[in-house]
Amino acid sequence: MEHTIELQNNVVSMPRIGEKAPSFTAVTTQGKINFPDDYKGRWVILFSHPADFTPVCTSEFMTFATLEDEFKSLNCDLVGLSVDGLYSHIAWLRTIKDKIEYRGMKNVEVKFPLIEDITMDVAKKYGMIQPGESSTKAVRAVFFVDPKGTIRAIIYYPLSLGRNFDELKRALIAMQTADKYEVATPADWRPGDDVIVPPAGSCGVAKDRMEENHPEMKCYDWFFCTRSLN
Ligand code: BEZ
Repeated sequence: MEHTIELQNNVVSMPRIGEKAPSFTAVTTQGKINFPDDYKGRWVILFSHPADFTPVCTSEFMTFATLEDEFKSLNCDLVGLSVDGLYSHIAWLRTIKDKIEYRGMKNVEVKFPLIEDITMDVAKKYGMIQPGESSTKAVRAVFFVDPKGTIRAIIYYPLSLGRNFDELKRALIAMQTADKYEVATPADWRPGDDVIVPPAGSCGVAKDRMEENHPEMKCYDWFFCTRSLN
């Protein structure tokens, strides 16, 4: 069931965590895509940016492109979107590659698809148009969609705030770790840190019994136990 709001007499939806990613087909800089079906079996980060040829977006695209192989090695593809047209996208990405050198990044080629969404159809489906911030541009939204096509995390940033890529990677690895080991991850968790058992939301087990049965486990109280993944 989609949660909807009114935007200039149009009904737009705000997808939520745990729901299937709304499907769409779109024209991109890498050809047509069918989302999320084309990404079944892989994680995908669908993200929006306000406009081509703007500075914060340029710094983000250079960073996303530089990290693309790292995301791929984590079984995660990237898909960008803005409400600009395809020729604007192509010209902007060419300018980035040919002219921009920023923080040691140069000749940066953006190989992941960038969706053209001049009709704002996709942006509205994903709650990326937030009129309090802008009714003509998408905010900086990030949707983490898992290999089954389910939305697992959503982060929204305002126009002025460039995303933190360490956090995007950390969130992806944390969710993959939670799925693989049936655990949860505590505040400020980084890969390699201890994890929480049993996962948040399930019933706690008496502290003494946990430590007795699992000597590698550290319990702070009956409801709060951690262990290493080694
Ligand atoms: C930027 O990417 O720099 C930007 C885009 C739209 C509004 C404000 C900043």
